[in-house]
Amino acid sequence: MIVKTVIIGFGNVGRALLKELVKIKEFNIVGLASSRGAVIVRDNKDLNEALLIAEKKQKLDKHSKFIEGLTSIELAKETNAELAFIAIPPSYETGEPNRRIYYGLIDLGVSIITADKTVLAREYVELRNKVYEKGLFIGYRATVAAGTPVLDVARGLRGRGVERIRAVLNATTNYILSLIEEGLSYREAVEKAIEEELAEPNPQIDTHGWDPAAKLAITVSELGTPITIMDVIREPLETIPEDEVRRAIREGYRIKYIAEAILGEEYIVHPARIKREDKLANVSGNINVVEFTLENEKVVIEGPAGPAWRTAKVMVTDAIEYLETRKQLKAS
Ligand SMILES: NC(=O)c1ccc[n+]([C@@H]2O[C@H](COP(=O)([O-])OP(=O)(O)OC[C@H]3O[C@@H](n4cnc5c(N)ncnc54)[C@H](OP(=O)(O)O)[C@@H]3O)[C@@H](O)[C@H]2O)c1
Repeated sequence: MIVKTVIIGFGNVGRALLKELVKIKEFNIVGLASSRGAVIVRDNKDLNEALLIAEKKQKLDKHSKFIEGLTSIELAKETNAELAFIAIPPSYETGEPNRRIYYGLIDLGVSIITADKTVLAREYVELRNKVYEKGLFIGYRATVAAGTPVLDVARGLRGRGVERIRAVLNATTNYILSLIEEGLSYREAVEKAIEEELAEPNPQIDTHGWDPAAKLAITVSELGTPITIMDVIREPLETIPEDEVRRAIREGYRIKYIAEAILGEEYIVHPARIKREDKLANVSGNINVVEFTLENEKVVIEGPAGPAWRTAKVMVTDAIEYLETRKQLKAS
C-alpha cells in the first residue's frame, strides 16, 4: 500500500515532518507547498534536495524545482495526492486562507492530517461532516498539546458527563509569566519570548488567548459539546498587573493563564490566581496540563506540547491511524 502524500507548509513542523515521513515506506511524498509556491517531487533526487533544505532549515523556495505561484490545491490535483499534511499558520479571525485549503482538498477527495487548529476551532462540526460525507479521514491530534494525547483522553470521556475543564494550554504565556515573576516588565517579557522564538512574531496569538481558546474549543467539541473559538471569552494576559503577578507568589499563589470550561455554560481563557499546591500552578515551560472534572473525580493529563520535531511525530501517530482506517475501509 503506497499513499501519495503532500505536505502543505514547510516551516518548523513541515520540515520535521518530511524527515519523519521518509522513514515510513507506505508514504510516497509527491509534493511540498509553502506560502508562495510548491515543489512537485518527481524522484529521489527531488526528495533528497528537499531533505537537505529541511536539514538546513531553509525555505522551500531554495529548491531547484520550486514553482512560484503553484497553490496547495493545484499541487494536490497535479500530483493526484491521497493524503495532505497541513502545517500552516493559524488564521482565527477570518479563517482564510486555511478554510479554502481544507475544503479544496476535501473536494478533491484528499484526506487530511493537520497541526493547524484554525478550521477545527472555528467550525468543528461542519468540517468533520464534510470529511465524513466524502468518506475521507481527518487526523488532528497535534492541534492540542502536541506531544500529549489530550484529545484521545477527551474522546475516551465522551458520554461520561464531564462538567468542567481547567487547563494550562499555552507555553508562551507560561514563559512570559515566569519572567514577570523574576522582575521583568510585561513588555520586556514579551520581547524576550519573541527573541527566543517562543512567541509568534504576532504575540497576540498567545497573549490575547487565541491559541489556548482554539485548543479549548477543540477539546470541548471532542467531548461531544460542539463549540467554536468565538464562544470562548478571551481576557488578554496583560489585564493582570505585573505587581499582582509578583504579589501572588509572596502570598502562596501563582498567576497562570488558564483555559476553563463549565460545559454547556461558560468558556473562558484568562489570567487567574491559582493556589501554589494546585497542579496547574506548577506547570512550566513546554508542559501542558488538562484537568477534566466528572463524577466527583478528576482525570488529569500532563505532558509536553511541541516543539516542532515532537509535533511531527504526533502527526505520524495520526498517519498510522490513517493506514489502519484505510485497510479497514478496503476490507469492508
Ligand atoms: N511548532 C510547534 O511545536 C507546533 C505545535 C502544535 C501545532 N503547531 C501548529 O502547526 C502549524 C505550523 O507551525 P510551524 O511552527 O511549522 O509554523 P512556521 O514555521 O511559521 O511555518 C509555516 C509554513 O506554512 C507556510 N504557509 C503559510 N501560508 C501558507 C499557505 N497559504 N499555503 C501553503 N503554505 C503556507 C509557510 O510558508 P513560507 O515558508 O513561505 O513562509 C511556512 O512554510 C501552526 O498552525 C502551528 O500553530 C505547531
